[in-house]
Order: sequence, then C-alpha cells, then structure tokens
Amino acid sequence: MSHDKQTALVTGANRGIGYELVKQLALNGFRVILAGRNPEMGHEAAREIWESNLDVSFVVMDVTNQESIRQAAITVNERYGRLDVLINNAGVYLDENEKLLNMNPSILEKTMATNFFGAYHVIHSFIPLMEKQDFGRIINLSSEYGAMSEMAHQGVGAYKLSKLALNGLTRLVAAEIKGDIKINAVDPGWVSSDMGGPSAPRTPKHAAESILWLATIGPEGPSGGFFRDEIQIPW
Ligand SMILES: NC(=O)c1ccc[n+]([C@@H]2O[C@H](COP(=O)([O-])OP(=O)(O)OC[C@H]3O[C@@H](n4cnc5c(N)ncnc54)[C@H](OP(=O)(O)O)[C@@H]3O)[C@@H](O)[C@H]2O)c1
Repeated sequence: MSHDKQTALVTGANRGIGYELVKQLALNGFRVILAGRNPEMGHEAAREIWESNLDVSFVVMDVTNQESIRQAAITVNERYGRLDVLINNAGVYLDENEKLLNMNPSILEKTMATNFFGAYHVIHSFIPLMEKQDFGRIINLSSEYGAMSEMAHQGVGAYKLSKLALNGLTRLVAAEIKGDIKINAVDPGWVSSDMGGPSAPRTPKHAAESILWLATIGPEGPSGGFFRDEIQIPW
C-alpha cells in the first residue's frame, strides 16, 4: 500500500457531475475513490476511467445510510490511510415545481436526507482522516437555489431548503475546523446531467472544470465560501 499520493473521494460519482469530477481529479494526479450506492454501476463507472490508466477505485456508499458511510470511511482508512479531498456531490431533485405546503412531506424528508444529512454524515465520518494529517479540502455541491434570496419565490422548496441548509453547514463547519482544512460550497451552474436535463447549457465536464480549483487551493485559500466559476456569490 502506498501513502504518498493525494487521495480524493467523490460521493454519488457513478454518473453526471460526480463522474466527471472523478475523471478530472485522476487526470490531475490524484488517487480517486469513486463512491456510489449501487455496486454494479459504481464498479462499471470506475472501470471505464481506470481503463485509461487513471488511478481510480470504487467504494460503495449510500449517503442516506450512516452505517454505509462509516464502513466506507473504514475502507478508505485501511486502503490508503489518508483523505485529502472530499467532494459531497450526491444529490437528488425530487420536487420540481410543487409547492412546499402541498407536496407529500416525505419529498422534503427524502431530499434533506440526501442533500443535507448525507453531506453532514459524510463529513462527520471522514473528517478524522483529515484531522489526522491536519490537512483537507472539502467541497459541497450546492446550487444557486440554496441562496437565501431564492426563499422569496415559491417552487422547488424541498431542493432549495436542502441546499440552504448545506450552505449553512459549510459555514458552520468552516468556523469549527482547525488547521489547514478548508470547506467551501459551489454552484456548478445549470448542467446537462440526468438531473439538469438535456436543455442545460453546461456539460458535466465544464461544470467539473469550474469546481476543481477548490481541490487544490493552498493554505491561503478561502474557507466557508460559496462560489460559482471562482467568483464568490451571495448566500
Ligand atoms: N445538474 C444541475 O444543473 C445542477 C445544478 C446545481 C447543483 N447541482 C448539484 O450537483 C450535484 C450532482 O448533480 P448531477 O447533475 O450530476 O445529478 P445526477 O446526474 O442526477 O447524479 C446524481 C448522483 O447522485 C447519486 N446519489 C443520489 N442519491 C444518493 C445516495 N443516497 N447515495 C449515494 N449517491 C446518491 C446518484 O446515484 P444513482 O445513480 O445511484 O442514483 C448519482 O450518481 C448534486 O448535488 C446537485 O444537486 C446540479
């Protein structure tokens, strides 16, 4: 087992923006762990990238299952003994334009379970690996829908609330953590993944490129910020 290379993990990475993030991190010299909840899809996605001679492996992780997250953290510690970059990418968009007070409340609960509590539990389980080496970069895939100003307009309430909470988590954790560990939120733009649909103007590749700089910021880099295309945007 080699411990020399920087190691990165991306959640929900078997397709969409997460898959592109894995590819680009690997192209930039990281050892990358592609995490996903479905073992078959995850192994297949990792194999596609690995066949281009890139350093990618798969770990199973359902971000709505705390035991699954805990087991994944144990596996990463045993395999590599370190984690330098963690990208909370796994997300769901379940409510389209339904009104918050008309929708089945389980839509809000399921959305929060993945987009907010998922990221919280993943950070909780993996941050000891970063604290061990006093270094880490955490990136939370948020959305402009999570900005406070968006709460003044009806529609997409469950998704908006989940990303608002994720933004709050980003700032709170930034205030709590010590040492050279940084955490930031990003809006990838409107992206032509399964979630964003075919009309979206940005490709997953372009979105991943717009995010990757936060994985390689130095000790003087930002923490507790919310960015789109390297520009700080309002919360
Ligand atoms: N697309 C956009 O326009 C857009 C805009 C703003 C923000 N974002 C954010 O960017 C992130 C990635 O979005 P995307 O467009 O790439 O979405 P996507 O194409 O729908 O992919 C979502 C990924 O999340 C995974 N996932 C969902 N629930 C999970 C769970 N419980 N455990 C583990 N993985 C889970 C999915 O896995 P399965 O294949 O197993 O379902 C899939 O790999 C999300 O956080 C999203 O909110 C996207």
